Amino acid sequence: MNYCKTIEPEAKPPVIPTQRVRPMGVEDIPEILELENVCWLPEIRANEATLRARFEMGHISMGMLVNEKLVGMTSFSYTHFSPDDPDGLPGTFREFSSRPLHDDYNTAFVYTLNIHPDYRGDTLTRELIWTGIDRLREDNCVYMLGAGRCPSYNGNQGAGIETIQPSPEFRKTIDNSMRTGKLPATRDLIIDPVLRFYRRTLGCKFLRVVPEFLPGDTPSGNFGVIFYKTL
Ligand SMILES: CC(C)(COP(=O)(O)OP(=O)(O)OC[C@H]1O[C@@H](n2cnc3c(N)ncnc32)[C@H](O)[C@@H]1OP(=O)(O)O)[C@@H](O)C(=O)NCCC(=O)NCCS
Repeated sequence: MNYCKTIEPEAKPPVIPTQRVRPMGVEDIPEILELENVCWLPEIRANEATLRARFEMGHISMGMLVNEKLVGMTSFSYTHFSPDDPDGLPGTFREFSSRPLHDDYNTAFVYTLNIHPDYRGDTLTRELIWTGIDRLREDNCVYMLGAGRCPSYNGNQGAGIETIQPSPEFRKTIDNSMRTGKLPATRDLIIDPVLRFYRRTLGCKFLRVVPEFLPGDTPSGNFGVIFYKTL
């Protein structure tokens, strides 16, 4: 199935029985670190201590395995959120990914989604996302919050991790938003391939553009774009 040609949100795809998604634990940290190495720039990789701390706080990670090899992962924590009052949202990725679980949660903070470069552009990514969403619904989450990178701000020719062309048009959109304090229109945000990907797979709503969200994410100009989906 070619997912790359549509802009409108996709429907939930059928589950593919030959592939497998399962919760990950501290014992999986060595494999998770291998996946981090091929998915992220060195500056924004999680190290062993960070992964261990996330598990100890009760955060949940779901891994996608193909022939017992970890090829994708998503991680989240639970919090309280209302789209009418988004002021309490974390201002940085570090905060996003290090908050302990909220007792009275209604929302999942999804702070990681990464797929091994050899397995991108396939149905695997959707299977991981939709299995994760089923888990959030089972845990009674009403909303899902995410923070998208936007690597076309500067572009990246990065050694196997991602090849993303810079978009002067997208950069102008973000710079204007910083000047005016206004959220750009969805059609202008989805010039970026990662934001387009989230809009397409989740039908999410963008909430705000955050400067210095993820220091070290040079392709994205360190910006993060916060979005949410009603589950
Ligand atoms: C973001 C990610 C999960 C998307 O998964 P995917 O399987 O690549 O999803 P898609 O195939 O729908 O591709 C999404 C877009 O990225 C592009 N893309 C796919 N594989 C790519 C690759 N290896 N390098 C660069 N871009 C790629 C696609 O062309 C598509 O853009 P398009 O709308 O112009 O067609 C995956 O690319 C990834 O893990 N990236 C690195 C980690 C990351 O940045 N995660 C997001 C954090 S917010």
